[in-house]
Amino acid sequence: MEEARAYEELRVGFTAAVSHELRTPLARLLALLETAALPDVDRDGLLAQAREQVEEMSALVDDILFLSELESGREVVALGTTPARPVLDDVRDRLADSAERADVTLVVDAGEARLPLRRRMLQVVVENLLENAIWYAGPGTTITVTVRDGLLEVSDDGRGVEEDDLPRLFERFYRSDRARASRGTGLGLAIVKHVVVSAGGEVDASGGPGRGLRIRCTFPAPSGPF
Ligand SMILES: Nc1ncnc2c1ncn2[C@@H]1O[C@H](COP(=O)(O)OP(=O)(O)OP(=O)(O)O)[C@@H](O)[C@H]1O
Ligand SMILES: [Mg+2]
Repeated sequence: MEEARAYEELRVGFTAAVSHELRTPLARLLALLETAALPDVDRDGLLAQAREQVEEMSALVDDILFLSELESGREVVALGTTPARPVLDDVRDRLADSAERADVTLVVDAGEARLPLRRRMLQVVVENLLENAIWYAGPGTTITVTVRDGLLEVSDDGRGVEEDDLPRLFERFYRSDRARASRGTGLGLAIVKHVVVSAGGEVDASGGPGRGLRIRCTFPAPSGPF
């Protein structure tokens, strides 16, 4: 009973939050289209802005679909282990341009370690953590990805978040520093947590204002033949 009620609360809250998140870009889109219908306006500029709103909405829908796939167990998270290095190199190459634009340095320290996640899941985790650091840490910072057996850690020496925010970062739709127009939907770290926990691991955030942010994912030792 207790569990069913908790689930129902979560479901209702989630639906409300999703509708809320979609309402803003939809309202902006409508305003842009109405303006575009007026005479003597910069129609190309308005269309470009309208496109951005649509892209924001589809990114949100993609994330939500992915989360609910995980929830219904259709995506098998922890099937076998993946050597981390090739995945990290891939993601780093893909994000090299945005790292350069943001003026941050990416350092990968992975060795030969393996992690108990499917390749695609490891990619999702690393991508979200690196994108965040690139986006939020600030210019001139260094972002370090460290992998050891049973450990994946992404840390930066950037602006960090208030200590009170640390445990809440993994909540859906939670964004630290709401006043600053944030690009994201606040789902990235919820997805990271979901993936890691589904694989039997744990997530943890540490750091503080001006001291950077460190996200640590730890996994249990594999249950071997001994
Ligand atoms: N490396 C970081 N440095 C400072 N703040 C961060 C960092 N990573 C995350 N945050 C804060 O945590 C919040 C939540 O991150 P999360 O990835 O869950 O959502 P998002 O990036 O806002 O949106 P999304 O990932 O869904 O596009 C961010 O909005 C940001 O305020
Ligand atoms: Mg994010």
